[in-house]
Amino acid sequence: MFKRYLITSALPYANGPVHIGHLAGVYVPADIYVRYLRLKKRDVLFIGGSDEHGVPITIKARQEGVKPQDIVDKYHTIIKKSFEDFGISFDIYSRTTSKVHYETASGFFKKLYDNGQFIEKTTEQFYDEEVKQFLADRYITGTCPHCSNENAYGDQCEKCGTSLNATDLINPKSTLSGSVPAMRSTKHWFLPLDEYEPFLRKWILEENTNWKTNVYGQCKSWLDQGLQPRAVSRDLDWGIPVPVEGADGKVLYVWFDAPIGYISATKELTPHWEKYWKDKESKLVHFIGKDNIVFHCIIFPAMLKAEGTYILPDNVPANEFLNLEGDKISTSRNWAVWLHEYLEEFKGKEDVLRYVLCANAPETKDNDFTWKDFQTRNNSELVAIFGNFVNRALVLTQKYFEGKVPAVTELQDYDRSALSEISIIKTNVEEALENFRFREALKEAMSLARLGNKYLADTEPWKIFKDQPDRVATILNVSLQISANLAILMEPFLPFTCVKLKGMLNLGTTDWEQIGSTPILSDGHVLNQPELLFEKIEDAVIEAQLNKLQEQKKLNEAKNAKVEPQKPNVSYDEFSKMDIRVGTILEAVKVPKTAKLMQLKVDTGIDVRTIVSGIAEYFSAEELIGKQVTVLVNLEPRAIKGIQSQGMILLAEDKLGKLILVGPNKGTDNGAAVR
Ligand code: 2FM
Ligand code: ZN
Repeated sequence: MFKRYLITSALPYANGPVHIGHLAGVYVPADIYVRYLRLKKRDVLFIGGSDEHGVPITIKARQEGVKPQDIVDKYHTIIKKSFEDFGISFDIYSRTTSKVHYETASGFFKKLYDNGQFIEKTTEQFYDEEVKQFLADRYITGTCPHCSNENAYGDQCEKCGTSLNATDLINPKSTLSGSVPAMRSTKHWFLPLDEYEPFLRKWILEENTNWKTNVYGQCKSWLDQGLQPRAVSRDLDWGIPVPVEGADGKVLYVWFDAPIGYISATKELTPHWEKYWKDKESKLVHFIGKDNIVFHCIIFPAMLKAEGTYILPDNVPANEFLNLEGDKISTSRNWAVWLHEYLEEFKGKEDVLRYVLCANAPETKDNDFTWKDFQTRNNSELVAIFGNFVNRALVLTQKYFEGKVPAVTELQDYDRSALSEISIIKTNVEEALENFRFREALKEAMSLARLGNKYLADTEPWKIFKDQPDRVATILNVSLQISANLAILMEPFLPFTCVKLKGMLNLGTTDWEQIGSTPILSDGHVLNQPELLFEKIEDAVIEAQLNKLQEQKKLNEAKNAKVEPQKPNVSYDEFSKMDIRVGTILEAVKVPKTAKLMQLKVDTGIDVRTIVSGIAEYFSAEELIGKQVTVLVNLEPRAIKGIQSQGMILLAEDKLGKLILVGPNKGTDNGAAVR
């Protein structure tokens, strides 16, 4: 057994809020594990924080016209709050722009540098002559050599999924200036991963055969392909400066500094941090998603090994991905359930989401989150089993025994067998948790609620109280003991619910070893008033969520729609028959009892005339008045809703059907001809 535990969870990039995929893949399992260890009275630290460097953050800042620091400040705050709201019980949630982290990451690099553990190499890289900057792969786009997608990035083609080098792209272009980048040589520091290959092979493939198959398999495939030296610096103006002479304009590669963030955060938390990081009796576990496996199982361990004084992870229980209603979760397509939005719409239901995400966690394969499943698990499991059982036990005790735990008169075999199940369930939950099988652990824990529910349904105390009050006393005592056991057993999974339940049971501090041991509630113990632990979620609520997603899907489809194909050619004569003029809108009034129509008075330079236009959904009357527009003045007049319309205002319609007025880009005379 280890003396202490150091549990880390992937540091999310601070360039957007967090969603259910993050929670299901990393933070809920990590939190369950940590809460369990704490209940077992183990010495444990739970480390988290935001990953605030890297190219995507600089791109987002550029797009929004702000500084990278503004972006990370904003999202660090949002992410931190979401985790707090969902009860993710970090001992520290730090960030990689902290001073401690700068010092720690710099110091780490410097030590390896001073020990001659890097290779210095000069390579050719793309350089943007206009903005005078080396270009990270993400800053270059071009045509994918595999599928001819014209908008492939320098590191990956998002259409065919191939990983690329920027030099593979056909017709590369800088996204900063649009110019064609030139090649320039630049010096970088490389960690010679190839030299660590024999050590990594032995450590992972021989000594860590107990790792999850998905993790072990991915490592094996990397190792079998052969490892190459890997650059740990970048030419970028956002990050931790490379702490050596002659490294101006160079920063540490984000994947070099981010995992060191775990160390910095521990340092920030406690002066005893070295005990956790350097003593063989400490167990280090990294909770991550599958896209982070190589960094945590190969690169970071090689860095730690190179440094020489640190322990290596004992396990890296990476999860697969969670999809949403059959589609990959995507920030850019806004296909996600955002945690901060969930909490606005499902107030007080943190545990319902924790429950569903754990019950359906992508532990061994990608999995799907559906709103229907969310509703079913809430209504048929949390409400109908857990909530129902506890509520009946408590309400009946209030009714028959004035809210005091009745004494057992005589235990029957059925009572004994129910009670003896508790320690079996406890052992099963422990076994599953210690081996990172959280779905199974939750299912086992829920089997205690099922057992309680069945016990009450079978014994039906409400039917026999009049004739056998002593028997009812025993039944309710047993039911209340089961409820108290549930309050401890479920705490790692449903912390908010268990606080409530413990309150109702008037339970003080509890610990894991109480589960299945002597009665937790003594005879005569006074209970508090019961309230409902869970409430039913109605169909309409689920439909609203599905509609929201449907709307998003429509929007995404429209965004991806192709530009309308060109119409057949017309002769110049045909074109010149159209008389298009610049005009100014003088008056605008919505046509009553219509949604779209606006009646306009337009000065066309020829005359002032009435035109009826279908633009009322997009413009208010005020914003139209005074605008110069283009008008087809010789369109045959026609009556629209009884109003004679003489001509047509020209508009541009985008893929989403949004209308924009088409006018001269500088003021000109009304009546000026467009040709
Ligand atoms: O994939 C990600 O979101 C990374 N920001 C995870 C970093 S984990 C650790 F190394 F910090
Ligand atoms: Zn491609």
